[in-house]
Amino acid sequence: MIHQQYQKIVASIYDPFMRSLEKVLIQHRQKLLTQTKGYILEVGAGTGVNFGLYPPNVKVWAIEPSTPMYKKALKMAKQYPNIQVFNIGIEQVEQQKNWPVSFDYITSMLVLCTIKDPLLATKLYTKYLNDKGKLLVLEHIHSSKKLYGRLQKIVNPVWRPLADGCNLTRRQDQILKKSGFIPIYENYFKLGTDWYEAIMKKTNQ
Ligand SMILES: C[S@@+](CC[C@H](N)C(=O)[O-])C[C@H]1O[C@@H](n2cnc3c(N)ncnc32)[C@H](O)[C@@H]1O
Repeated sequence: MIHQQYQKIVASIYDPFMRSLEKVLIQHRQKLLTQTKGYILEVGAGTGVNFGLYPPNVKVWAIEPSTPMYKKALKMAKQYPNIQVFNIGIEQVEQQKNWPVSFDYITSMLVLCTIKDPLLATKLYTKYLNDKGKLLVLEHIHSSKKLYGRLQKIVNPVWRPLADGCNLTRRQDQILKKSGFIPIYENYFKLGTDWYEAIMKKTNQ
């Protein structure tokens, strides 16, 4: 009950909280998403901020486990007939009936910081992505600056419960590489903390 109330608050402040960051992030999202084709799995869709950036001829299965976020994403998806939203997490994808066997693209943006078991999630990405498929990633990662990185370690235990499980100290780039993804393109940039964007493929390609 308390958790539901909390998730409601997070969903209602998420877009205003992200507004100034999004002025920059939108360019990174756009660069990655406009190239998508075929069947797409969007992981942790949040309020549906990516929906308007997909080409109109793709088909998107967007998943979002937080019900208040899911409701916002559902509302957003009404404008996009090619996008369906489901109130599930990555761990439940396998149980869905009448879904594609695998996807041409998986999009994972600002999600691996929050997912409880990111190594399990990225292993599931390798399972759900078809052999020629591509993973599109945009994530904030632990700062490489000594002082800022240390500060993030100190602040993280307070930040994480306030920010719906978001971690400031993860290295999602390393987790992804450990799970069997290799970058076709990768870019590290700074926006407050360090950020990582990448187009990745499975190592067996
Ligand atoms: C910081 S928000 C990012 C939302 C959106 N992708 C964006 O770029 O703005 C992280 C989202 O990941 C979702 N999430 C958390 N655990 C998840 C899981 N196991 N599977 C899928 N999504 C998850 C959260 O509910 C939340 O909406």
